[in-house]
Amino acid sequence: MDARSILAKKRDKQELSTDEIDFLISRYVAGDVPDYQMAAFLMAVYLNGMTPAETFALTSRMIASGRRARFDDLDRPTVDKHSTGGVGDKISLILAPLAAVCGAAVPMMSGRSLEHSGGTLDKLEAIPGYRTDLSLEEFQRQVREIGVAITGQTAEMVPADKKLYALRDATATVASVPLVTGSILSKKTAEGIQALVLDVKVGSGAFFKDSDGARALARSLLTVAEKLGLSAVALLTDMSQPLGRTVGNWVEVEESVEVLRGGGPADVVEVTLELTARMLTLTGLASDVSSAREQAERSLRDGSAWRKFLEMVRAQGGDTAVLENPSRYPRPKYQLEVKAPRSGSVRRVDALGVGVAALELGAGRKQIEDVVDPLAGVRLLKIAGEAVQAGEPVAVLQTSQREDALPVAEKMVLAAYEFADEPPTARELVLGEMRPGD
Ligand code: URA
Repeated sequence: MDARSILAKKRDKQELSTDEIDFLISRYVAGDVPDYQMAAFLMAVYLNGMTPAETFALTSRMIASGRRARFDDLDRPTVDKHSTGGVGDKISLILAPLAAVCGAAVPMMSGRSLEHSGGTLDKLEAIPGYRTDLSLEEFQRQVREIGVAITGQTAEMVPADKKLYALRDATATVASVPLVTGSILSKKTAEGIQALVLDVKVGSGAFFKDSDGARALARSLLTVAEKLGLSAVALLTDMSQPLGRTVGNWVEVEESVEVLRGGGPADVVEVTLELTARMLTLTGLASDVSSAREQAERSLRDGSAWRKFLEMVRAQGGDTAVLENPSRYPRPKYQLEVKAPRSGSVRRVDALGVGVAALELGAGRKQIEDVVDPLAGVRLLKIAGEAVQAGEPVAVLQTSQREDALPVAEKMVLAAYEFADEPPTARELVLGEMRPGD
């Protein structure tokens, strides 16, 4: 068996055996298959897809590339949520401590930004000192002691996803059903959870933009999750517009803090409550979605989720002083206001346009070596439904490293705004729910 013949087989649309997938992934993780061959394989999978059997073999091999957490002796159910990637999607930062104070144990392994979409790890790393490279022992201990941890893949835990994730980001091969399935479910299985809520995004800012594509992804995720013994449910949620008013890293941490302190944008609160409620019902911590929502809402209002977030950040080495007082955080070096070209009402703000602008400003990576700028991003001063006067600022662009990107990002954000005489109809945030077999 050799890598080139496996690539040729996938290129020619033939089904790979489990042995061939095992060989390729394990040799890649060991460093014996170089990035250029793996990049070619990823593109072949992106173009030709994988059968359900191949997808399951890929996911299983990725899980087996590292060690797995175990929480057998815990007196609380273990549950997590994972999103398929969006713009302004800071839900994990709020939901993980929130579900923990509602009685769940949340061992969350997240990802970094991918193409135009944000990444929970990049956001958390904007907090000075926050560690996303916990060892398996540290991760298990923290979940046992405080009920929640958010960390990343390491050389010890799911190293296959760590390497493949960065390579997919740099080779335009993210939006592939089998590759997303393997990436998400390898991390989720290695966490040692019993139940999983999938937030499958639909709309321009998602990797699968239309409902049919998003449903196909949800089906693949649910089928493989079931085979791996995870109890799972998927919510299809709107990603045609950014979530909240911020897109970037530190700006999204700040907005998450607002929500954790009982305020923040209504759309972020709504999607957080819907997903948290599914985590609580799936694990039997609540008997129905409406009582679960009430419990979660109370924990946002009474400050307990906010205190749990601070406890988690402290446990992972992060500086909580800047969270308690965000004005202590450094300011971006360069800022630019984007002004409304006309008066009227904001009809829509396109998620992809804003996500790509944030990437240009330095919030994500175009190449594996790129270093993320924690201060880069976009603040949306006006969102759908709000009135605006010609010449009034609708958004602020910020960056500390890419002053040259401001004019191009300005054009992108202006193009993302649609104005009209009348306000739009209300945005539907939850578009559907799917279970295994749907
Ligand atoms: N999130 C992940 O962890 N992996 C993907 O491929 C997409 C979203």
